[in-house]
Amino acid sequence: MSPSPGLFITFEGIDGAGKTSHIHRLHQAFLAAGRQVVLTREPGGTPLAEKLRALFLHDAMDPLTEALLVFAARRDHLVQVIEPALARGDVVLCDRFTDATFAYQGAGRGFDLGVLSQLERMVQAQPALGPDFIRNPDLTIWFDLPTEVAAERLAGARVPDRFESQPQAFFAQVAGGYARRAAEYPQRFARIDSNQAKDAVGQAVHDAVAARGWLA
Ligand code: TYD
Repeated sequence: MSPSPGLFITFEGIDGAGKTSHIHRLHQAFLAAGRQVVLTREPGGTPLAEKLRALFLHDAMDPLTEALLVFAARRDHLVQVIEPALARGDVVLCDRFTDATFAYQGAGRGFDLGVLSQLERMVQAQPALGPDFIRNPDLTIWFDLPTEVAAERLAGARVPDRFESQPQAFFAQVAGGYARRAAEYPQRFARIDSNQAKDAVGQAVHDAVAARGWLA
């Protein structure tokens, strides 16, 4: 359990899973419950990390550069935004975090999972909170839906970035990566069946959070 008074909630899923509107709904629910909320995203969330995001999404690079860049952005985001917010007792709602790196760079690109684990430990360590403390989400809402449904939702939405333009087979691998992370961390993951009406998905998200007693 985290020694910080805040709550760290992340949102994951393949492109087209439809997480954005649900993040905003949950934001409103936490505000209504009287909490201070920081709404943020990865890669990004700070001026430096947003610059790294633009490179990450649009410039060609080798897999190690890609992994280092996303973890560099994450480090800045943790130090500048996430840790201070959690120390204040805020709720941090973050659109993607390290599970996305394991799913996209690891499962999708086939990048070495051992190296990703090393970077995860290095970047997310918070020695001030304990010699072995690694910052991880308190809850990860995983929007799970078949890759073909996600592809239909994405089609024609806008000009795709380097990830959105990948073939469906890539997203099948990414989805497998998320499933493995969920199996590895069953207590922190809440799987949401996202192949249903938007309101039903919203209700499932709300229930997953309320079940932990965080919206009282
Ligand atoms: P996304 O949340 O889809 O942003 P938007 O809604 O603006 O499209 O995230 C951008 C992309 O970055 C998405 O395709 C997944 C990818 N990504 C990674 O490949 N690795 C990571 O570690 C993160 C955080 C994101």
